[in-house]
Amino acid sequence: MKKIEVNLPGKAYQVLVGMGVLDHVADELAHLEADGGVIIADRAVAEAHMSKLALSDAFKVLTVEPGEASKSLDTSEELLNKMASLGVTRDDVVITLGGGMVGDLGGFAASIYMRGLRLFHVPTTVLSQVDSCIGGKTGVNLPYGKNLVGTFHQPAASFVDPSTLTTLGDREYRSGFAEVLKYGWAFGDDMLASELDVSKILARDHHILEEVIARCLGIKADVVARDEFDRLGHRALLNYGHTFGHALEAAGSFALLHGEAVGLGMIFAAELSVELGMGPSTLPDDHRDRISSIGLPVEVETDLDSIRGFLELDKKASEGTKWVLLRDVGAPEIVSHVPDSALEKAVGRLCP
Ligand SMILES: NC(=O)c1ccc[n+]([C@@H]2O[C@H](COP(=O)([O-])OP(=O)(O)OC[C@H]3O[C@@H](n4cnc5c(N)ncnc54)[C@H](O)[C@@H]3O)[C@@H](O)[C@H]2O)c1
Repeated sequence: MKKIEVNLPGKAYQVLVGMGVLDHVADELAHLEADGGVIIADRAVAEAHMSKLALSDAFKVLTVEPGEASKSLDTSEELLNKMASLGVTRDDVVITLGGGMVGDLGGFAASIYMRGLRLFHVPTTVLSQVDSCIGGKTGVNLPYGKNLVGTFHQPAASFVDPSTLTTLGDREYRSGFAEVLKYGWAFGDDMLASELDVSKILARDHHILEEVIARCLGIKADVVARDEFDRLGHRALLNYGHTFGHALEAAGSFALLHGEAVGLGMIFAAELSVELGMGPSTLPDDHRDRISSIGLPVEVETDLDSIRGFLELDKKASEGTKWVLLRDVGAPEIVSHVPDSALEKAVGRLCP
């Protein structure tokens, strides 16, 4: 088992990563004096994995329907009402079980119920295991856009068991590795990008999964410790590939999975880096090779006009859309005021 420390002053916590970690959650919670509360679980994940947690009746299970539509104010209100009707108090804790959707939703409910309950995450998708189970971002969506309502509420611990990934669907599983490649390229960890052992990853080899997840979380823990509230520019670098990826996701009415869109977004960012004379010319094709080796798309039918509207919210928030680009692998930079001509050329290179 590996332990990752998130060194935030006054609220430091550990993430336990390893095969069979779920079997230790009850003991770890007892050790942390978390004696009761609610488990907010994705229904599909609860069916597959809840029994492994072996928690006592002091923990009541609240399930939510799978899918991004559950990440809403309506579902939050339902959860808060159920917590109140169960008599949940400030001494109780919230445990989330599932992917990033339920982590964000349950984390949000935990952060506002009685002004905040202690929170524990048990993530069960690749994305949530390498990324969203630490850092404390919680939130729900509005009809106007994703994650427009939310809080910062750090977990008291997260428990990451790669064996839960065995039940994850193939497309969902592959999609999560876009985030792994992101760490590799943006933060210069070759083991997570150019040297990623794709055949072992696709075989869901437990040893490599444990190693890869722990490495990603180590990078994120370091970034979060330096910029907890995403104000200093360090956390923004975690968004490599995400500005364009989010817009692609939204423009296509979420037909692309998040990781598929992020993979395309990273190819776009690599193309833009070259177009602006920043990155080496080999960058985009290196991205394409790795992304396609995982079975993620490297082409998409789109143009700047169809995604522009989905970049608008970003534009209003600052002095223009901010792009995370690469001077090289491991040398990210935030760039704004990019001319449309360069954006158009980069988009054009994604089209089949
Ligand atoms: N808070 C953060 O820092 C952060 C970071 C990145 C993304 N996010 C959020 O995460 C969400 C996406 O998370 P996700 O990709 O994990 O998707 P998800 O939570 O929606 O899960 C995807 C699907 O996989 C199923 N599933 C989950 N675990 C499973 C398992 N072990 N076996 C079988 N099926 C399983 C779910 O039922 C669901 O159908 C988005 O809402 C995004 O905004 C948050």
